[in-house]
This record gives sequence, C-alpha cells and structure tokens, in this order.
Amino acid sequence: MKHFLKETDFKPHEVAEVFALARDLKARRGRETGTVLQHQTWALIFSKSSTRTRVSFEVGVHELGGNPLFLNKNDIQLGRGESVEDTARVLSRFVHGLIVRTYEHSEVERLAASGTIPVINALTDFLHPCQIYTDAFTLAERWAPKNGDGGSLLASLKGRKIAFLGDTACNMANSWILGAALFGMKISLSGPKGFEPSAELDALLKQEGFAKNYHFTTDPFEAVKDADVVYTDVWVSMGKEEETKQRIAQMSPYSVTPELFAAARSDAWFMHCLPAHPGEEVCQEVLDNPRSIIFDQAENRLHVQKAIMATLAADRS
Ligand code: CP
Ligand code: NVA
Repeated sequence: MKHFLKETDFKPHEVAEVFALARDLKARRGRETGTVLQHQTWALIFSKSSTRTRVSFEVGVHELGGNPLFLNKNDIQLGRGESVEDTARVLSRFVHGLIVRTYEHSEVERLAASGTIPVINALTDFLHPCQIYTDAFTLAERWAPKNGDGGSLLASLKGRKIAFLGDTACNMANSWILGAALFGMKISLSGPKGFEPSAELDALLKQEGFAKNYHFTTDPFEAVKDADVVYTDVWVSMGKEEETKQRIAQMSPYSVTPELFAAARSDAWFMHCLPAHPGEEVCQEVLDNPRSIIFDQAENRLHVQKAIMATLAADRS
C-alpha cells in the first residue's frame, strides 16, 4: 500500500510520472470526466482550517469520478478520543482513501500504519508535501521544454536555487528542504536565530539518504543572492497563534520587500503557498509583481493532487 506522507514517498522516476500526469490532466480539464476514482469515496479528515487544500481535493476527487467526504475532526469520534488506529481501521471498511490535515505528523503515520487504504498528508506541523510537489511542478512548467516528458519537467529543477525567508522552522521550510534534496535544487534559508531547521528535519534527511543540503543565514540578502525563486510563508502557522506578537517582532527583518526581491536573480519567481498576510512576510507590491506566481501555484494544487491520487489509486503493491 502506497501513501503520500512526505516528499520522498515517491522515487524520482515516480515524481516525473506524477508531473507528466498533472500536466496532462491540466490540459484536458473540463473536456472529459475522469474515471480513475469511479465508485470510490475518499474522506478528508481536517483538524485545521483550509481553503486551497480542501477545495482542490474535493473538486479533484469529484473530477476523477469519485465522491469526496469532508469530515471535520471534531464532528467525528476521533475528536472525542477514539483512537487514531481504530479510526483508520473503521474508515478503511467504508472509504478508499484518506486525505488528512492535522497537527502531529505521527498522526498521519499512525493512520497509514493502521488502515488498509492510501493516506495523503494534507499538511502537518512538520511537512506539507502536496504544496511542495505543486510548487515544483509550477516552476517546471516555466523552466522545462514545452513538449518534454515528465523526466524533462523534473530535470528542469536541477541546480536551481530557492531562497526561503521568514519562519525557517515551519512545515513549508521543512518540506522545501526535503523537496530540494529530492529535486536536486539548492536551498538557502534566512530567518531569525532560533529558527534554524530542526534536528528532527536533519534526522529525516539522513534517514532518506541525503546529506545536509541547506544553507541557513540570518542575513536575508545573503540568502536571496543568485536565487531563482524567492519563497515565503506566514510567520504564524496554525497552532502557533499564542506566539504571534513575538514572531512578528523577530521576523520583521525577513519580510519580502521589493528591495529584497530585487536582490535575487532578475528573472526570479516569487512564490507563497498562501494564505498571505500582506505587510508582514511579504509586501503587497511583491505579491502583485508580474513575477509573482502565487495564483498559478494555487490552481496547480488541483492538477498535481489529482495526479497523486490517481497514482496511489493505481498502485496495487
Ligand atoms: N496553501 C494551503 O495549504 O492553503 P490552505 O490552508 O488554504 O489549504
Ligand atoms: N505554515 C502554514 C502553511 C499554511 C498553508 C501553516 O501551517 O499554517
């Protein structure tokens, strides 16, 4: 049984296939109804808010011919203390896949270990792999030859540099570090002291067979030098609301201003997973820059996640 809990759950040749399928699904959208998930129900169990992830998965399951079932954690017994394991066992008797957004990363691992259906990580405190695959695909659409295959989409990322600014210890930073290792990209991160990537992330890199691949600096201008992509995320991730005041004070030097963006390569793209807080992690001017591709990222969630679900549904191992 194949799951998608972290970036490295697909090998590079499988990533190439996912990208090729995403491009194909994007080109064909609206012209035919998919049947890959016909007669299937995929449940979404969400413990946190969501706009893009929820809607793109619900629409995506529907477009592949299946039925999405949204379950707020607090509306099911999981929210009242039924075990993660029993929830996985029971839902495996009813539905064909689980899409899970939660706090503890171990919760998606336990659901995957206890059930008999594919589990997709739709964001944990540790990783957000659906977003990183989508972001990488969004870049590959721009960098790869127009009619190249999946291999050329993946190869177009190799050697490119991404600069990640702000909360350099959050799920998006972690996922980009692991993604950069998988895609052969360079990554520099810049945030306040104390927000260096965690020992847990270093252990995951090692476990997945990668050397420590990132550069961390407290100087944002150093990080964006020669960058092909400037990326940021909110300073206060879901679950960190109590630290809001302190985080805003600590992270304000890392706001992506027009000056900071101009210090990257002249053809660099600006990216943000959204939702954005203009005036905090990024200035409105940068969000509106012609090289800001934030809404293409948002749209591509649909196409890439459809490709991920189709790949998992087809896997019989
Ligand atoms: N980028 C992202 O995951 O957005 P949502 O929280 O709206 O799903
Ligand atoms: N780091 C953010 C990402 C939101 C898509 C959070 O976890 O809230």
